[in-house]
Amino acid sequence: MASLTLFQRLTKCWQISSRDSEAALKPAVKILVTGAAGQIGYAILPMIARGQMLGLDQPVIIHMLDIPSSSEALGGVKMELIDSALPLLRGVVATTDVVEACKDVNFAVMLAGFPRLEGMERKELMSKNVAIYKAQASALEQHAAPNCKILVVANPANTNALILKQFALSIPARNITCLTRLDHNRALGQLSERLHVHIGDVKNVIIWGNHSSTQYPDANHAIVKTKDGEKSAKELVANDAWFKGEFISTVQQRGAAILKARKLSSSLSAASAACDHMHDWILGTPKGTWVSMGVYSDGSYGVPDGVYYSFPVTCDKKEWCIVQGLTVDEFSRRKMEATGQELVEEKNLAYSVVSA
Ligand code: LMR
Repeated sequence: MASLTLFQRLTKCWQISSRDSEAALKPAVKILVTGAAGQIGYAILPMIARGQMLGLDQPVIIHMLDIPSSSEALGGVKMELIDSALPLLRGVVATTDVVEACKDVNFAVMLAGFPRLEGMERKELMSKNVAIYKAQASALEQHAAPNCKILVVANPANTNALILKQFALSIPARNITCLTRLDHNRALGQLSERLHVHIGDVKNVIIWGNHSSTQYPDANHAIVKTKDGEKSAKELVANDAWFKGEFISTVQQRGAAILKARKLSSSLSAASAACDHMHDWILGTPKGTWVSMGVYSDGSYGVPDGVYYSFPVTCDKKEWCIVQGLTVDEFSRRKMEATGQELVEEKNLAYSVVSA
């Protein structure tokens, strides 16, 4: 390089180092985000584009979909993404056309749902969401990349996932999941606060069932890393009444508490949990750790099959697997049944709307 000027040498070094880092990156993948102009969309898009969802070596092309009345806002979000100079972001599509949005996507994060308006009947809400998920199911089925992995976030998340499955029969049920990682993270947060330990030192809580106030946050198997090794969270807290009372109700009611405080539903924590969910599904759960995911139930633990139910799962090679063989006491059994029963009722309501 002796005959080169300093500027030429620096340019050459920059070219070599950017070529090297480029070589370490995976080929770009396409991620659909529906309802992208909304609150969770605004929080999750930079997280995705910074590698929090699929890793720091994974370039992404983001497909943002929203309804025509949000088209201008969506254009604003696109400008902001471009202005954020995010190196992993290799393209942004902002569209109100569901077919264009679903074209060749490898991952889909479904944030779009009809919000419950004051005085609205459950059945009316369900019928609005059935219409949205039916249309998106058929576009995903026809236009997404093979083996596209889907996460439903919008409520009622478990039943929206079921509708998606019903109207996209060629997409394997195991490729469609729904978000209960938000509740899982909330449960970890409660234990970490109670025990004054770092959240990274708590693991293996479980959210069973529906992402609703009937969910069962279960800390019977939770583990805390201490300087003396791993200990049971139950033994460390040593307060059964707290586990059966305040712990459960705080996690169950956390969404409502945030809504009351912010006058808006949780967005930041929902976006963060959606990233965690996809991250662990695709990149795997650490050895000895499980997470909660809403998945198509096979009837494990005696809960209803044929609904999307949240279970403890481990993930490896982009596949989830329900953790088997955990002991379930009578108290837990009743809670798991109650939330399962609610999911069956939601399913019946959704199917009655479909066939109406
Ligand atoms: C949450 O758990 O915070 C949300 O699912 C609540 C909601 O209805 O948006």
